[in-house]
Amino acid sequence: MCGIVGYIGKKEAYPIILEGLKRLEYRGYDSAGIALYDGENLKLSKTKGKVSDLENKITKDKQLTNGNVGIGHTRWATHGVPNDVNSHPHYSNSGELVIIHNGIIENYASIKKELINRGYTFSSDTDTEVLINLIEDVKKNENVKLGKAVQIALNQVIGAYAIAVFDKNKPDEIVVAKLGSPLAIGVGEDEFFIASDATPFLEYTKKAIYLEDEEMAIVRLKKGVKIRKIKDDSLVAPYIQELQLNLEQIVKGGYDHFMLKEIHEQPEAIKDTYRGRLNVKEGLIRMAGIDDNLERILNANRIIVIACGTSWHAGLVAEYIFEDLARIPVEVEYASEFRYRNPVITEKDVVIAISQSGETADTLAAIKLAKSKGAFVFGVCNVVGSSIARETHAGAYTHAGPEIGVASTKAFTTQITVLTLIALKLAKEKGTISKSVFQHHLQELELIPGKVEKALLQDEHIKTVAETYKDAKNCLYLGRGYNFPVALEGALKLKEISYIHAEGYPAAEMKHGPIALIDEQMPVFVIATKKGHYEKVVSNIQEIKSRKGKIIGIVTEGDEDVKHLADHVIEVPDTIESLTPLLTTIPLQLLSYHIAVMLDKNVDQPRNLAKSVTVE
Ligand code: AGP
Repeated sequence: MCGIVGYIGKKEAYPIILEGLKRLEYRGYDSAGIALYDGENLKLSKTKGKVSDLENKITKDKQLTNGNVGIGHTRWATHGVPNDVNSHPHYSNSGELVIIHNGIIENYASIKKELINRGYTFSSDTDTEVLINLIEDVKKNENVKLGKAVQIALNQVIGAYAIAVFDKNKPDEIVVAKLGSPLAIGVGEDEFFIASDATPFLEYTKKAIYLEDEEMAIVRLKKGVKIRKIKDDSLVAPYIQELQLNLEQIVKGGYDHFMLKEIHEQPEAIKDTYRGRLNVKEGLIRMAGIDDNLERILNANRIIVIACGTSWHAGLVAEYIFEDLARIPVEVEYASEFRYRNPVITEKDVVIAISQSGETADTLAAIKLAKSKGAFVFGVCNVVGSSIARETHAGAYTHAGPEIGVASTKAFTTQITVLTLIALKLAKEKGTISKSVFQHHLQELELIPGKVEKALLQDEHIKTVAETYKDAKNCLYLGRGYNFPVALEGALKLKEISYIHAEGYPAAEMKHGPIALIDEQMPVFVIATKKGHYEKVVSNIQEIKSRKGKIIGIVTEGDEDVKHLADHVIEVPDTIESLTPLLTTIPLQLLSYHIAVMLDKNVDQPRNLAKSVTVE
C-alpha cells in the first residue's frame, strides 16, 4: 500500500519526512517523493525506486533544502506504471497546490475528461493528479479556501483515499481527508505530523488522532486540528489517543505477525479488488484488460491456467468457475511442468498466468513459451509493473496491497475475486448464464467482504481447535467440487508454516487409498458446506468416523448434521457455491497460523521458503 507522511511545525520538515517514509517502507512501494515549502517556493522531488534513491536525488540536485512544512509519499502503483512522472506528490496545473494520495479514485477517468475540456493538462497517468486538479478547479470556480475546496471535490469522487493537500498561499496549514485508507495525525508541541500510521511520528509524540472514514481535517499550526464530516461539513470533536503500541507492533498493525494482519486484511483487500470493476446496481463488470480483448478470449478453444503454489490453487478454483459458468474448457498447469513438457499450444489458446509477486521464474518462463507459440496471455498479478505484468499481453491486478508474509493468504482470495469477475463477465457475454443468475452472483460477491469478516470472528474458537491438533504429525484435508482446491490450499498453509505433513484430496478419493491412513492419530479437516454435494461429503465423514479418524468439519453456519459426526466444527457464513472458496479458506488460514505459533515457528519467514521464487 502507499505511505503518506506530512509535517508542519517548528523543525526542519525534510529530515522528519524522509525518515518517516523509511518507517513506512514495510508497506511495500515502487517510488517515492517529497514536496517542501521553504517560505517562498513550493518544490518537489520524486523518483521511481527506493526512499534511498530519492534521498540521493535530493542530495545531488540540491533542490529541496529547507522549510518547516512538507509532505512525502511512497507509492504502491495502482493506476499507471511505476516511473518518476507517476510518483507522488503531484502539483496542480497552477503549481500552487500539491497532493499525496493513498487509495483509488474509481471515477477519475470521467473527471479527467471534464477537466481536460476545461483546459487542464496532465503529465501523469494517475488518478491522483486528476484529484488535485479537481480541487484546484473547485477552489477557483467557487472562490473558496483549500479546506472547502477539498470538501466539495471529495463529494464528487467515488473510491478510497487518504490524502494530504498543501496550498503555497496558505502555508500554515495542511488539509487531510480519509475514506477507506488509513490516516493518523500526530499531535506534538507546536507541531503536527500526518501519516498512514503512527510509525513516522511515534518518536516525537504518542498523541494521535485517527481520522474516521469520510472525515477531513484542517491541520493548522496555530489553531490546531479542526475535523469535519466530508458529506455535510459538520464539525467533529477531535479524539486524541495516547498510543501504547511500540514501533514493531504498529508496522504489523497491532498483530503479532504480518500473516495474521494479512489474513484480517482480506475483507478490505477483496473490496479493493472488485472496487471500480463490480457495479451491482447497473449489473456490470468493467475490466479493461478483458473488454479490450473480448473477442479473442470468447473465441478461445480453451483456457490454460499456469501458476505455482497457492496461485495454482486459485487457478484450480478458476477451472470450476469458468467451466461451470462460462462453459469454456480450462486446463490448470503447474508452470514448472508446463514449460518443459513440450505442450501443444496454438493461437486459439488463451493462457491465464496467476502470480502474486509477478516474478516467479517458472511462471514467467511458461508465459514466454506460450507467447512464442502464438497464445494470448492474460496476467493476474498483485505487483504493478512486475516482470509477469509486463510480459503478458493484458491483465488485471489484484489490489491486495503488499503481501509480506511468505504464506499467501490475501493474494489467494483476491486472485479468486479477479478470476470470478472474469468468469462472470465471459458467462454474461456468452449468454451461458441468465441475467438473474448473473445479477445474483454480483450481489453475493458484494456481500463477501462482510461474510469474510464474520468468518474471521471464529478466531478464538479456531485457536482452541489448533491447540487440540498442534502435535499431529500428519493431517488430511478433504473437499469436493469448488472446495477441493481449498483443501489443497489448506494443506499447503499447514505444511509451509508449521512443518507438519499435510495432504489435500478430493473427498471422494478417500476410498482409492488415503482411507488406509485413517486412525486416531490422523486429524482430517473436511470442508462440508451445504452447497455442492453436501450429502456425499457427509457420507465420506461417516466412513472416516467409522475408522476412528478425528474429524474437523468446516461447515455452513447452523449445520447440525456434521456437528453430530465431527469432533470439532468451524462455521462459515452461507453463500452461493462458486463463492464458497472465499469463505472456507479463512478458517484453514487461521488454523495453520495458530498451530505454527503454538509450535513456535517463524510464521512470516518459514524455513527454506522465499516470498518469491525467482529462480528455477
Ligand atoms: C504460498 O503460500 C507460497 N507463498 C507459494 O506457494 C507461492 O504461492 C508460489 O511461490 C507462487 O508465488 P507467486 O504467486 O508470487 O507466483
